[in-house]
Amino acid sequence: MKAAVLKGVHQPVVLEEVNKPEISSDEVLVAVKNSALNHRDVWIQKGQYAGLKFPIILGSDGAGIVYEIGNEVKNVSVGQEVIICPSWYWGDNPKVQAKTYKILGLPDNGTFAEFVKVPAEFVYTKPKHLSFAQAAAYPLAGLTAYRATITRANVQKDENVLVTGIGGGVAFFAMQFAIAQGANVYVTSSDEQKIQKAIELGAKGGFNYKQGDWDKIATQQTGGFDAIIDGAAGDGFIKLIEVAKPAGRIVFYGGTAGNINNILPAKVFWKQLTIMGSTMGSTTEFEAMLAMIEKHALIPLISHEFELNDIQKAFETMDKGNQFGKIVVRI
Ligand SMILES: NC(=O)c1ccc[n+]([C@@H]2O[C@H](COP(=O)([O-])OP(=O)(O)OC[C@H]3O[C@@H](n4cnc5c(N)ncnc54)[C@H](OP(=O)(O)O)[C@@H]3O)[C@@H](O)[C@H]2O)c1
Repeated sequence: MKAAVLKGVHQPVVLEEVNKPEISSDEVLVAVKNSALNHRDVWIQKGQYAGLKFPIILGSDGAGIVYEIGNEVKNVSVGQEVIICPSWYWGDNPKVQAKTYKILGLPDNGTFAEFVKVPAEFVYTKPKHLSFAQAAAYPLAGLTAYRATITRANVQKDENVLVTGIGGGVAFFAMQFAIAQGANVYVTSSDEQKIQKAIELGAKGGFNYKQGDWDKIATQQTGGFDAIIDGAAGDGFIKLIEVAKPAGRIVFYGGTAGNINNILPAKVFWKQLTIMGSTMGSTTEFEAMLAMIEKHALIPLISHEFELNDIQKAFETMDKGNQFGKIVVRI
């Protein structure tokens, strides 16, 4: 089969002919129709990720058709159109993942290939209203957004919610899920056009985080935020503490802008803020996300589509950060 292989840190991802995976009795072989990139793939290529292993076929997102099933598999059949949950072996505690936890696409080979093998328990029927490309956009970023927004921030109808860096893959889904909950959603971005596009897609307004006093403008216009979903962290995080309402919740799932060096303790404790970290999600949350996508007939925003043999360009596009929405790969 053809697969995009990464052989080491700072190497390009190259298309090669490799052996088709062999499945065991509880696994499924999926013929991948589409996959999608996450920032994780770029961090791995740059060597900025734990547990590196080479050569590796990256790719955590995938949708396709079941090609072969193991003897003991009961929940899926050959020919079924499926979406893959990339979050494996979360464990029994809904509050935190177990030591057994892993993400598809490192250490196990992922979806930037014609075929991927997956334990059958992580394969779900593709929502009918989504194309394969649309379905492939959701898994990792959607699940991260679902847990951060719905489980952790517990966003409710009519609350004011701020989603930062709306150009990001996770951020877009956080906005979409918070709107589906009936919240008043605002965004931040470095790009005026992305703010306008977010407003067209249902956001109530937006603020440019490059503008020094955006926090003051945001507080004046909205009265502050009950919940904030952030993937950047960094020294800009201090402004999120400013714009949070008293008793507000701030959930962050990423650190694109680096460490937070400047939190003022008194602001956090006097305002009775809750600051929470969030990572990926369980299969229960993946199922709840699929239910929400189907109930509201949600569709993702796809920024770019690349052929598998152009995948290195997809990595460079994500690294530059010019995208708005997901970067999808056609297999
Ligand atoms: N914990 C988890 O489970 C998990 C899962 C997925 C991702 N992540 C992490 O979350 C982060 C985002 O991931 P992604 O895949 O959504 O990446 P992405 O699509 O590459 O997100 C990039 C976006 O980040 C925004 N951004 C950059 N600097 C910012 C800043 N200083 N303040 C606010 N926003 C800023 C930009 O938004 P604008 O273009 O609008 O300015 C940019 O478009 C990454 O660090 C990733 O590693 C964590």
